[in-house]
Amino acid sequence: MASQPKLQTQTDESCQPQGPLTKASWQARYDEGKTGWDRGQPSPMFSRWIDQGTLRPCRVLVPGCGRGHEVIAMAALGFDVTAVDFADTAVQTLQAELQTRNLQAKVIQSDLFEFHPPEAFDAIYEQTCLCAVHPSQWATYHESLVRWLRPGGNLFALFMQTEATQGPPFSCDLDKMQILFRSHHWQWPTEHDRVDHPMGIYELACVLTRL
Ligand SMILES: C[S@@+](CC[C@H](N)C(=O)[O-])C[C@H]1O[C@@H](n2cnc3c(N)ncnc32)[C@H](O)[C@@H]1O
Repeated sequence: MASQPKLQTQTDESCQPQGPLTKASWQARYDEGKTGWDRGQPSPMFSRWIDQGTLRPCRVLVPGCGRGHEVIAMAALGFDVTAVDFADTAVQTLQAELQTRNLQAKVIQSDLFEFHPPEAFDAIYEQTCLCAVHPSQWATYHESLVRWLRPGGNLFALFMQTEATQGPPFSCDLDKMQILFRSHHWQWPTEHDRVDHPMGIYELACVLTRL
C-alpha cells in the first residue's frame, strides 16, 4: 500500500507562538479588541449555504465559535446547535445574545482538546477554528473532527488563506488540507468557493463529507 505523504506543517522555529495557544492568549485578544476575524454578522458563505439548502437544520457543532453570529442564526432557524469555545468573552457574549433574542443553543466553555461529546453530530461548521489552532496540534484536532462527526455528515469548512508562515491565523493552504483531511476519511468536493475576509485575506469554503 502506498504510504501517505507527510503533512508539512509550519515548524516551531517559523511560528509565533512556539506551541499550543492558551485560553489566556485568546482571552487577551478579546480584552485588547484584537478580534479582526469577527465580521459582526454571519459570514456571507454561511448565508449562501443556507440559501442553497446545503446547510439545513440538524444537530450541528460549531468549534471555536467566538461571538457566534452563525450560532445565533442557526438557533433562529431551528438547528440543534452546540457551540464550544474556551474564551470567557466569546462564551459570555454568545450566551447573552441568545438570551436577549430568546433563542436556544448549547454553549459549552471548554478546551476543544478536552471536549468529548456523548454523541456524534450531523454537521460541523468549522469557521476559522483550525487556523486558530497551532499546526503542531492539527493532526489531533483533525482526529477530533472525525470523531465528532457521524459518517455521512458534512463538514462546512472555511479554511483561512494568509500566505504567511506565522500565525494565528495559521494559513490552511489547500494542499496541506488535502493531506490532513485525507480521502480515507473524507470525500472532497470538486469545487470550492473563495470568500473574501475583511482582514484583507480570504477563506476557501469546502463542504467535505465524512466517510
Ligand atoms: C479566529 S477565532 C474564530 C471565531 C469564530 N469561529 C468566527 O469565525 O468568528 C478562533 C476562536 O477559537 C477559540 N479557540 C481557539 N483554540 C481553542 C481551543 N483549543 N479550545 C476552544 N476554543 C478555542 C478562540 O477562543 C476564538 O474564539
